[in-house]
Amino acid sequence: MIARNDPCWCGSGKKWKKCHHPFLPPQNFESLKKEYFKKYQIVLKTPEQIQGIQRASKLAANILKKVCAKAKEGVTTLELDDYAMELHKEAGAIPAALGYGHPPFPKGICTSLNEVICHGIPGNRPLVSGDIMNIDVTSILDGYYGDCSAMVCIGEISEEKQKVVDVSYECLMRAIKILKPGILISEIGQVIEDYASSEGCSVVNQFVAHGVGIDFHEAPQIPHCYNKMAIPLTAGMTFTIEPMINAGVREGEIDPKDQWTARTLDGKPSAQWEHTLLITDEGYEILTLP
Ligand code: MF3
Ligand code: CO
Ligand code: CO
Repeated sequence: MIARNDPCWCGSGKKWKKCHHPFLPPQNFESLKKEYFKKYQIVLKTPEQIQGIQRASKLAANILKKVCAKAKEGVTTLELDDYAMELHKEAGAIPAALGYGHPPFPKGICTSLNEVICHGIPGNRPLVSGDIMNIDVTSILDGYYGDCSAMVCIGEISEEKQKVVDVSYECLMRAIKILKPGILISEIGQVIEDYASSEGCSVVNQFVAHGVGIDFHEAPQIPHCYNKMAIPLTAGMTFTIEPMINAGVREGEIDPKDQWTARTLDGKPSAQWEHTLLITDEGYEILTLP
């Protein structure tokens, strides 16, 4: 009979009780927190941090909702950005996009139209019937971050555009529904790519979802396509899921002039939805609900 302190039968070199023993002692939060940071650079959030992230996420969701409601034919994306800036100011918050990265992102939100995959920069172009657009809002409130995005459709849109809008939403919601402690990060991409490809759409792999909360982009990176990331989810993780789904090829290219706008290589439409999520003992909480 194998004893608890014997080497595990799997050959890991670890004690059986620390490896494949069927009754692993319940790990307390403090030891998991250390382990997740050391192994994966993932910060498990304390109850106090979770409260802060919940507030920032709710604000981001409310701002996103208001900005989406203003996106109508004839309105420019710059006007939407101005409005988002104003709403942040009113709430005592900061739009995280402004000045982020290299070169510094010049606006407070991302407005990604039609063939733009992500990181579209608000500008003078008025919205026209037939446009689809992703609006991405990340808010910093009291030092905490919440990140979300949604699609808006202007007037009558093509069947192809409607398809990517619907498929990307379904990908996000299907991925959220499997979340709970113990599932692997790779299972998120599995669900998303299984569904997208069954609908004849492709999954962007040049951009990923990410840990978020005490910083804009934290570990882990979460691919939306098939991958082998064997990191188990655990309570206290906060991260986004934000699948970018294309009607044509998955490849994109970044605008050499502004160095931000990512467009599909074939010019076909792309769509994306995003939520910030918290892993709880029971499963998950969607933090970016208005
Ligand atoms: N909000 C985007 C995300 O979902 C990141 C935008 S980076 C920016 O991760 F600089 F363009 F804002
Ligand atoms: Co994000
Ligand atoms: Co975002």
